[in-house]
Amino acid sequence: MNILKILAGLAALCAACVVGFLLFVYGPFMTPTFGDPAPAQPIPFPHNRHAGANAAAGELGLPCAFCHVFVEQSEQAGAPPLQLCMTCHVGLGLDKPGVQKLVEHVNNNEPIEWVRVHQLRHFIRFTHKRHVKAGVQCQDCHGAVEQMAVLTRVAPLQMGWCLTCHRQKEAELGVSPGSMTEDCWFCHR
Ligand code: HEC
Ligand code: HEC
Ligand code: HEC
Ligand code: HEC
Ligand code: HEC
Repeated sequence: MNILKILAGLAALCAACVVGFLLFVYGPFMTPTFGDPAPAQPIPFPHNRHAGANAAAGELGLPCAFCHVFVEQSEQAGAPPLQLCMTCHVGLGLDKPGVQKLVEHVNNNEPIEWVRVHQLRHFIRFTHKRHVKAGVQCQDCHGAVEQMAVLTRVAPLQMGWCLTCHRQKEAELGVSPGSMTEDCWFCHR
């Protein structure tokens, strides 16, 4: 075996080690789990600026359902239609890079691919509608969104989390007796 072959072998081994190390470090972050930092969004959208109530700081106090227009009617809360943003941004904040990017998307008729922060797995049945109608606040599950500059998940979204609130609400409020059961089919499909 000559020295070149040995060197080539060593180089391949090093490359394999580097790849393995990177997978070890970054692998777990490829599927988002609770406690991960909030994912970067295509446009940094400040919830506090739009939904916060502190008018002195320029916060607009928009209701959540102003943008998440489907939250009371359907399973999904839904991402806001960009035309809604343009009711204000047609002439407002145009010096901000985020707003410039928004306008670019609207002009090119290109949707913005927001990165999901909350995502249950496909086998779970969850609807916003009934929760919102029963008086559960957005904040009970999503935290103080109106104070967040970067939208961050505050709840684990695991089975125990769902059950804890269901038990609590049943005891506290006695919500619609029988409207919540712990039968597996209630949440699993
Ligand atoms: C009972 C807990 C709960 C309440 C109350 C709640 N959410 Fe959610 N929200 C969730 C869960 C769980 C998910 C993930 C759903 C999934 O992956 O199917 C989610 C996902 C979302 C999403 C992204 C996915 C989608 O459905 O479009 C948005 C936006 C959202 N919620 C907004 C709101 C707003 C606005 C309110 C109040 C009007 C609200 N939520 C109330 C638990 C809740
Ligand atoms: C009711 C009016 C209104 C609506 C609707 C609205 N915005 Fe804004 N937005 C504002 C105001 C006011 C500011 C602050 C502008 C400034 O500081 O010059 C702002 C700021 C921003 C910024 C810049 C943040 C920064 O400081 O860099 C972004 C990005 C943004 N909005 C995106 C959106 C998107 C996306 C939507 C639609 C989902 C939207 N806005 C809907 C009024 C609105
Ligand atoms: C001006 C429009 C606007 C208003 C008002 C608004 N949102 Fe949003 N919301 C957005 C946009 C745009 C996104 C996607 C970008 C992001 O995740 O930061 C979003 C994302 C979210 C998500 C994350 C969805 C996911 O991927 O899991 C939640 C939860 C949420 N909003 C809740 C709320 C709540 C609660 C309120 C009221 C306190 C609210 N929003 C008010 C525009 C708005
Ligand atoms: C903060 C409290 C709270 C949390 C957290 C919560 N729920 Fe609920 N859930 C309720 C209440 C209250 C009702 C009763 C609604 C009614 O009486 O109509 C309910 C009803 C339901 C229903 C029956 C109504 C429908 O939408 O079909 C399902 C299914 C459900 N929850 C699934 C879940 C799942 C899955 C999770 C976790 C991912 C969850 N819930 C987390 C409070 C909560
Ligand atoms: C109130 C809603 C609810 C009820 C009732 C419920 N589950 Fe779950 N379950 C969930 C949620 C939410 C998850 C987590 C889903 C996720 O990670 O996205 C889960 C996860 C699971 C998992 C783990 C799956 C995995 O691959 O990690 C198993 C197993 C499970 N449930 C079994 C059951 C059984 C058995 C019952 C009946 C005794 C039941 N569940 C009742 C909401 C519920």
